[in-house]
Amino acid sequence: MPSDLQSLEQEARATIEAAADARVLNDVRVKYLGRKGVLQELMGRIPSLPLEERRGFGASVNGLKKALEEAIEAKGRTFEGQGSSRLLDVTLPGQRPLVGRRHPLMQVEQEICAIFGRLGLKAFRGPEVETEFYNFEALNIPLEHPSRDAFDTFYIKTADKGKKLLLRSHTSPSQIRALMQCPPPMAVVVPGRVYRPDAVDASHSFMFHQVEGLAVDKDIRFSDLKGVLITFAREMFGAETRLRFRPSFFPFTEPSAEVDISCFICGAKGCSVCKQSGWLEILGCGMVHPHVLRSAGVDPRRWRGYAFGMGVERIAMLKYGIHDIRLFFENDLRLLEQF
Ligand code: PHE
Repeated sequence: MPSDLQSLEQEARATIEAAADARVLNDVRVKYLGRKGVLQELMGRIPSLPLEERRGFGASVNGLKKALEEAIEAKGRTFEGQGSSRLLDVTLPGQRPLVGRRHPLMQVEQEICAIFGRLGLKAFRGPEVETEFYNFEALNIPLEHPSRDAFDTFYIKTADKGKKLLLRSHTSPSQIRALMQCPPPMAVVVPGRVYRPDAVDASHSFMFHQVEGLAVDKDIRFSDLKGVLITFAREMFGAETRLRFRPSFFPFTEPSAEVDISCFICGAKGCSVCKQSGWLEILGCGMVHPHVLRSAGVDPRRWRGYAFGMGVERIAMLKYGIHDIRLFFENDLRLLEQF
């Protein structure tokens, strides 16, 4: 460092050290580091220097600038909280930090999985990008079968024409994966995103969340399924909740049922949410079809199981009285901050 810079540094440090309060210190800062300050003026001289000196001189001034900035900051800290010269004004309103939280859908998903977890179903996850085998064939939904339409989905272009990949249209393909990975006796609960090419409106979204349940053991009966679902519904919607099983059809369960809970909004008396029926549909379920077990390499003569699947958005909307599914996906803090 050139000697005149050294003496400048000594002089500046002494002035900083001598500053009696924050205001004086600020004046010192302006004098040396301000836009029209001493160091800026030195920088302005660079173009008039001989070429070979410019780089070194610039670096020295920059080094000095850093050193003085640090010295001023250190000195400033010694004034903090001192009388009239304090840098911190405690009378100003505080700044409230923004605290993040889980998305309401993830809260509900977690709550659902926790209830089934306490009943002994272990958490399992399958991929969102699936093959036709897991999404359809293994679940007894053959190619060209009309039931395929309901689960028809988004396909992904692959280089290999023979291998079709798709976004799963339900969490049921994870039944097969779970069975292959965890030989029975087993019981799992599988949360995750699913995709369907539905036109978006107040009750439809091309992407939504499901929770799947599957238990396979030697002597599993429909009554086990009922018991697990009743326990779930009472914990989720209140101890008064009643369940109604309506015969239904799914290719991967036999027999199949759709399950309604008694409307907790009107106490099953009839309201606009339950459309005056007193019942709210919340899930599909049934006894695992032998074809499904066989597809996963499990012998249907030795093992039986139940399966169920529910929509997380639907349950969250019912629980919190949210009337438009799109609200979940708009990232509007006015909604999200209420959870
Ligand atoms: N996968 C079905 C759906 O998406 C739900 C379901 C799961 C039904 C498991 C029966 C058993 O509608």
